[in-house]
Parts: sequence; structure tokens; C-alpha cells
Amino acid sequence: MHEIRHYDDTSDRLQVVELWQHIFGYETAHNEPNLSISKKIAVNDGLFFVAVENTQIIGTVMAGYDGHRGWLYSVSVHPNKRHHGIGSSLVQHAESALSNLGCMKVKLQILDTNESTVAFYRSLGYSTEPTLSMGKLL
Ligand SMILES: CC(C)(COP(=O)(O)OP(=O)(O)OC[C@H]1O[C@@H](n2cnc3c(N)ncnc32)[C@H](O)[C@@H]1OP(=O)(O)O)[C@@H](O)C(=O)NCCC(=O)NCCS
Repeated sequence: MHEIRHYDDTSDRLQVVELWQHIFGYETAHNEPNLSISKKIAVNDGLFFVAVENTQIIGTVMAGYDGHRGWLYSVSVHPNKRHHGIGSSLVQHAESALSNLGCMKVKLQILDTNESTVAFYRSLGYSTEPTLSMGKLL
């Protein structure tokens, strides 16, 4: 049985970095896991959660809220722990936290080739929107 709790930098960093490196690969510096974690905890918004089973971190979700939209990032479940509802409970936990802050809509970005993850989010009520995502490195 897993629990979902806030990320704790004193105990969780190494495991989260290993999990993200394993799942996401991270080939570019701006996505480097330690840097992402440090920047997120510096914001201190209470929107970074981990799924834990017997002291092992088996999943993560980062959310963000800017007063207009909520966003989900870094939703991940360890490959050995998938298809047991952990990803769903992480997303729903983040949605509740966003909703408690007054957030009325949550968005996320994934590669359109990532069909299994699209299916995952569809199962949670998300739908695709006809928008073009744009970005710029600062
Ligand atoms: C996407 C991910 C978080 C799902 O985690 P999970 O714990 O396996 O998800 P759940 O068990 O809660 O799945 C809920 C539902 O999503 C759908 N789903 C999940 N994985 C799926 C897959 N590989 N193919 C098709 N549908 C899938 C199913 O409908 C599933 O319900 P079911 O088990 O009753 O069939 C996990 O596969 C993952 O970490 N993927 C790699 C990282 C990633 O792509 N993250 C998202 C980008 S930020």
C-alpha cells in the first residue's frame, strides 16, 4: 500500500533523482533533476508530492499554480509499480491541492507520440485541446 505525501528534501532527493533519470532520461541541462528539484523547493508552494511504499519513493508529481492555470509536471511511476492506480492517485492528489488553492483548470504537456500516457490522462478525464504549444529558453 502506498501513501502520497509532500516531497521532503532531507530524505527524498536521491531517490527522486534516480527515478527521474531512469524514467525521463534527462539529456539537457535545464531539465537536470537536481536543478529542477532545487528550483521547485525554492518556490516553496507545497505542490511537489511523492508516492511512497515502505520508505521507497515509487512515484512523483509536481504541480504549479500561477493564479490563472494549474499545471502538472513530472508525473512518474516506477516501471515495476505501474498499473496499480498509483499514477492516478498522484494526479488526483495534485488536482485536489490545486483546487484548494482556487485553481479551476489544470493543464499539462506531453509528446503527442506518447500514446500510453495520453490514454492514462484520458482515463482521468483530460482531453486534448486544439492549441499549439510554444516555448522559449531563457
Ligand atoms: C503515465 C504513468 C504515470 C501512469 O502510471 P500508472 O500508475 O501505471 O497509472 P494507473 O495505474 O493509475 O493507470 C490508470 C489508467 O490509465 C490508463 N493507462 C495507464 N497506463 C497505460 C498504458 N501504458 N497504456 C494505456 N493506458 C494506460 C489505463 O486506463 C489505466 O486504468 P486501468 O489500469 O484500469 O486499465 C506511468 O506509466 C509513467 O510513469 N510513465 C512514464 C512517465 C510519463 O510519461 N509521465 C507523463 C509525462 S509528465
